[in-house]
Amino acid sequence: MYNINKVREDFPILQREVYGKPLVYLDNAATTQKPLCVLDAMREEYLNVNANVHRGVHYLSQQATDLHEAAREKVRQFINARKTEEIVFTRGTTEAINLVASSFCESQMQPGDEVLVTDMEHHSNIVSWQLQAMKRGIVVKHIPITDDGRLVCCHNTTTDGSVCCDGIATYLTERTRLVSIAHVSNVLGTINPVKDIIREAHAHGIPVLVDGAQSAPHMKIDVQDLDCDFFAFSGHKMYGPTGIGVLYGKEDWLEKLPPYQGGGEMIDKVTWERTTFERLPFKFEAGTPDYVATHGLATAIDYMERIGLDNIEAHEQELTCYCMEQLQTIDGMHIYGPLSPLGTVPSVKDAVVSFNVGNIHHLDMGTLLDRLGIAVRTGHHCAQPLMDRLGISGTVRASFALYNTKEEIDTLVAGIRRVAQMF
Ligand SMILES: Cc1ncc(COP(=O)(O)O)c(C=O)c1O
Repeated sequence: MYNINKVREDFPILQREVYGKPLVYLDNAATTQKPLCVLDAMREEYLNVNANVHRGVHYLSQQATDLHEAAREKVRQFINARKTEEIVFTRGTTEAINLVASSFCESQMQPGDEVLVTDMEHHSNIVSWQLQAMKRGIVVKHIPITDDGRLVCCHNTTTDGSVCCDGIATYLTERTRLVSIAHVSNVLGTINPVKDIIREAHAHGIPVLVDGAQSAPHMKIDVQDLDCDFFAFSGHKMYGPTGIGVLYGKEDWLEKLPPYQGGGEMIDKVTWERTTFERLPFKFEAGTPDYVATHGLATAIDYMERIGLDNIEAHEQELTCYCMEQLQTIDGMHIYGPLSPLGTVPSVKDAVVSFNVGNIHHLDMGTLLDRLGIAVRTGHHCAQPLMDRLGISGTVRASFALYNTKEEIDTLVAGIRRVAQMF
């Protein structure tokens, strides 16, 4: 385990106060704070290296290109992709999913063909497909969830506590062309057994996109072991800068898909008659990339790896279990998502706890907690269909990062009690 006090020193923002109270930052599923090393690396690049990448013969351009491509290699290692050709830089998870939705539907789907998502998706993994439904007549289907926030097809628990997947076969039809599924729910914290789901989808010849926005910050990702066809995640949720994300795609798939956007960087030769495209991954990277952000992301990955992904996961699991235990001592507490078995291996819940207390509106709870210095998120968390399924307008959500402490959870719990007394 790592020295949490030392880690917190890497994030100066954690020392600040809001409304005269020490900041307790529990909105990490929305975005994480950035360690000094990331800020320093980006400042250093702007100060001493800055030049556009890939195009220049001059020294600075070469140096910036080297940093940018080293970042791609860093990401490749981080998720254990086979090749850097399989790593496409995007603005974030949202753009990565939109890229696949657009290019996959254009080239692989006919009107009436189906994409299968779940009831616990973020809007980015719903609306991207709905746009394609409007444009191309594809159909968006969704796997329902149980009352405790697990996929209906994956809610069995074996005697060792692990989740076994009964199967998604019921939801696959001869028109299903792609399964697109969150690895970890940003509202419920549910960890979906994506490896089982991928195996089963593949047995039916169907590729799978994994939305890793809430898993990549918290656990070791191995895309070869998962055998997913696409994997999307965002840099800003894992201590990196905003505006940078990653789409991993198996080389075969990326070769088959047409470009998403047109412009510089993504072309081989342009004439009025015919344009040919760059090799992978540049075919999907039109325009000047955010090369400083890619360097920032690589620095964030270095930072996480120095602490150790296993250590981060263990620490955050401990925080999640502790938070769940403590919250359940509060009268009127309703926690959404899997309640048990917590602390089992593999875990079924990760780093996100959503709740409501009695009849207190989530917005009131969040606003009053804020006055106590506690930053939580309230509302529908970009998952309105999930809110409809749960029959609520929103929740209060506390979400954890590697720098959070049990003392901060104690402050949260005391804050909730104090707010509850006011109603
Ligand atoms: C599960 C999930 N998917 C996708 C996204 C979208 O990520 P971004 O806004 O970084 O593109 C989020 C953001 O909260 C998320 O939690």
